[in-house]
Amino acid sequence: MTTTTTEPATAPAPARARRPVKAAAAVTAPTPERISSQIAYLTRVLKMPTIGRTWEEIATQARDEGWSHAEYLAGVLERQAADRESAGSMMRIRTAHFPAIKTLEDFNYDHLPSLRRDLLAHLATSTFVAKAENVVLLGPPGIGKTHLAIALGVKAAQNGYSVLFDTASNWINRLAVAHNAGGLENELKKIRRYKVIIIDEVGYIPFDTDAANLFFQLVASRYEQGSIIVTSNLPFGRWGETFSDDVVADAMIDRLVHHAEVLALSGESYRTRARRELLAKDRDN
Ligand SMILES: Nc1ncnc2c1ncn2[C@@H]1O[C@H](COP(=O)(O)OP(=O)(O)OP(=O)(O)O)[C@@H](O)[C@H]1O
Ligand SMILES: [Mg+2]
Repeated sequence: MTTTTTEPATAPAPARARRPVKAAAAVTAPTPERISSQIAYLTRVLKMPTIGRTWEEIATQARDEGWSHAEYLAGVLERQAADRESAGSMMRIRTAHFPAIKTLEDFNYDHLPSLRRDLLAHLATSTFVAKAENVVLLGPPGIGKTHLAIALGVKAAQNGYSVLFDTASNWINRLAVAHNAGGLENELKKIRRYKVIIIDEVGYIPFDTDAANLFFQLVASRYEQGSIIVTSNLPFGRWGETFSDDVVADAMIDRLVHHAEVLALSGESYRTRARRELLAKDRDN
């Protein structure tokens, strides 16, 4: 036989029973100060500092606008989630080691009319990262390759993916150090933890055979597992010169472009344009 309760199941529980966290609070009537300090304590314990900071302000809004308890709860939790997300984005952007922060919003599309905006907008959603696909940015100096690579990296970080930026020569140095210490596999594994790696400036500095092999291993180890955004001033047809080996270069390009968007940018250097505009302004003054 089941025991019956004196109250219907739907009846609101008395204030004492609703506060199970601290038995002591059930005995003494909760003053506003006591509630404040309890919330301060609990939000600290639960690591929800945003709620600790904003619950009063949101409560005022809730009272003014006649929110239900559930709406108020959703409101404070939402604020906490938004803050946590943006803190996460900021942290991922910080740890990506971008040489400068460049964004798609700062990018002047009029300078590159042939660049497909719809494609960039699609890349900005970072679905290519979810699918472990690559982005290759090719073009002459100053055209905006590094800018776009960073901007896509920033978007990926904001979309929740870990990113790591470096130049091709620094990536090679990092792998060479690991290789010499007998820890190449381990290093490649560590790098695979990043959902996106950006390899900037392939082609400016030629690599010897050992370096080319290390680079190949980096690309091969991420094939269909993690995204690479790579920039180069050289068309694929000339990568053999950089890697001192056409066969290695071909095998690498094969893996890189199998699942990739290749953006071949062409036009005038943005640096030259900026300089020309500056000179013109000087002349006019
Ligand atoms: N379309 C653009 N809109 C706004 N700024 C741009 C644009 N293109 C380039 N820039 C700016 O011009 C400078 C040079 O661009 P970036 O460094 O991206 O060129 P790059 O193609 O990587 O050149 P390099 O091959 O010499 O490394 C950067 O400060 C970048 O922010
Ligand atoms: Mg560059």
